[in-house]
Amino acid sequence: MKHFINLKDIPSKDLRKILIDAKKRKKLRKNLNTLEIDKGSPLKGKMLVQMFEKASSRTRISFYLAIKQLGGGTLTLRSNELHLGQGGESISDTAKILSTYGDGFMLRTDSDKKVENFKKYLTIPLINGLSPSSHPTQVLSDVFTVEEIKKKPISKLKICWIGDSNNVLDSLIAASVKFSFKLNIGCPKRFEPKKKVKDWVKNNNKKIYIYNDPKRAAKGADVIFSDKVISLNDKVDKKKKIKNFKRFKINKKLMSCAKNTCIFLHCLPRGNEVEDEVFLGNNSHVWQQALNRVHVQKSILLYCFGKLR
Ligand code: CP
Ligand code: NVA
Repeated sequence: MKHFINLKDIPSKDLRKILIDAKKRKKLRKNLNTLEIDKGSPLKGKMLVQMFEKASSRTRISFYLAIKQLGGGTLTLRSNELHLGQGGESISDTAKILSTYGDGFMLRTDSDKKVENFKKYLTIPLINGLSPSSHPTQVLSDVFTVEEIKKKPISKLKICWIGDSNNVLDSLIAASVKFSFKLNIGCPKRFEPKKKVKDWVKNNNKKIYIYNDPKRAAKGADVIFSDKVISLNDKVDKKKKIKNFKRFKINKKLMSCAKNTCIFLHCLPRGNEVEDEVFLGNNSHVWQQALNRVHVQKSILLYCFGKLR
């Protein structure tokens, strides 16, 4: 049994194994319908419990499809409907109950501490479906999408992030170390990645390149990533933060600083950090990016259940 909580804690060779499996499985599903089960039904009879303390469209649906296509099923919970969320039951007791009924647990929460506590008490695999410091299933899937479109290892590409230093960027930074790719970050000075994150990169003998000028960050990029300036439950002065990011809006002019083959990716949901001309333009692959989450999460589930070939 393995957890999938932070990319930084998972060996590179395991992450690569997951991507190789996802590529094979995606190819084999070409002629199958949405709910048809993969040959061999590798997770037959298994139940993934998913719990969302914050909104989700893609993570919820893609995990539902992922476990279904492997022969298992899912139960989706909202914590405020449980004794846990009502404040009457401890994490340790809830974790024991989840481990009794279910085979795997996916959690989206506003608290990294809660993720750690669940990990402590669960006896089934735990998957982080987004926490304040990490969105690992999203970013591993994004690495898959980049390699699928560019048809080369991500280590040979120049990746750029324009936007807030949030959970998605933290996971992208972890991925840049695990997969050895060059990562430029374009953000206002006061929204740079936290010292803890920068120190982790340094301690791993890697470098990330931070620019407070979006054009310099985008220069020569093969891929530009972005995410909402205001994350779910971001407790900031929203108007002020959006104003701080005004110069960082992704439009055609900014894209023209990158290579002319540069693609645009965004995990969704989007805010006003990107213009329609880019988001809906020819170089945008955001829908393929969203779909790939199903394929990669299937291989993540197999990894967690000890069934990765
Ligand atoms: N990208 C992503 O995680 O989307 P949801 O918030 O809709 O799950
Ligand atoms: N950074 C965003 C990602 C949403 C998928 C958030 O945490 O809300």
